[in-house]
Amino acid sequence: MEDNETIKTIKARRAIRDYDTEKNVPDEVLYKIIEAGTYAPSAENQQPWRIIIVRDKELQEFIGQIAVDRTIQLFGRATPRQELERRLSYIKSKVSLERTIEILITGRRFEYIKGKKETFGAPVLLVLAVDQTHVGNSQATLRGTGGVYGWSSPRHAVIAGSMMMQNMALAAASLGLGSCVSSVQLDHFDDVGAISERLGIPYPHWVPILCLTIGYPKYERTLGPPRQPPEEIAFVNKWGNPYKPKGVRK
Ligand SMILES: Cc1cc2nc3c(=O)[nH]c(=O)nc-3n(C[C@H](O)[C@H](O)[C@H](O)COP(=O)(O)O)c2cc1C
Repeated sequence: MEDNETIKTIKARRAIRDYDTEKNVPDEVLYKIIEAGTYAPSAENQQPWRIIIVRDKELQEFIGQIAVDRTIQLFGRATPRQELERRLSYIKSKVSLERTIEILITGRRFEYIKGKKETFGAPVLLVLAVDQTHVGNSQATLRGTGGVYGWSSPRHAVIAGSMMMQNMALAAASLGLGSCVSSVQLDHFDDVGAISERLGIPYPHWVPILCLTIGYPKYERTLGPPRQPPEEIAFVNKWGNPYKPKGVRK
């Protein structure tokens, strides 16, 4: 069976970390992307998400620097070079491997979040916050009701928010834009607090969980890290029971 347009877009989407800084993202395009995000499913249709659109270069720099600092701490110190080499062994070219290890260890990989021309930074940075209040405050018709069925888990908000992110990343890809989900700048509680304060997010009721850079890609990128095929990640009826699909043409 051939891939249709939707599946082609899903497969072609790549994490883009180098942007064409001469090309801005018009509001009408950004609107379409965010609107596509709002069509994601959410528990009880609570739509427990809010987006902060960050075009301001100083704010992008602030968030980007946190990403760089945390990367150096997480990758550079915590992950030995041998482990990085092992994880990146799918990269066939030695030069490409060296470059990837270098940008991981130095944090340079995260410069794209800063939005600066010299680092091919993205013109738009979206910060996604999700409702953690447990009472369904995020959607007007459910406000204060605790949701239609009386409860909703903060975990559901994180799951729904993640689905919204993917919708936006796919919408961007379908419109010829690049994007990259990033969380490294929101991994540490100190950073979550600092970013919330700077953006006026009412933390901890609303918690920023993910960022999405958006812009036109500087380079075409079609090759991504390899995926495990379905027969490696799916089981039939019981964990460990092999999945042997019939009649599948690859
Ligand atoms: C929850 C989540 C967090 C991520 N965090 C980061 C990040 O902090 N920085 C980054 O550059 N990429 C980040 N990524 C992007 C992944 O590295 C990327 O999607 C993955 O390597 C697969 O590559 P592909 O998207 O090109 O297929 C994140 C992706 C997800 C889903």
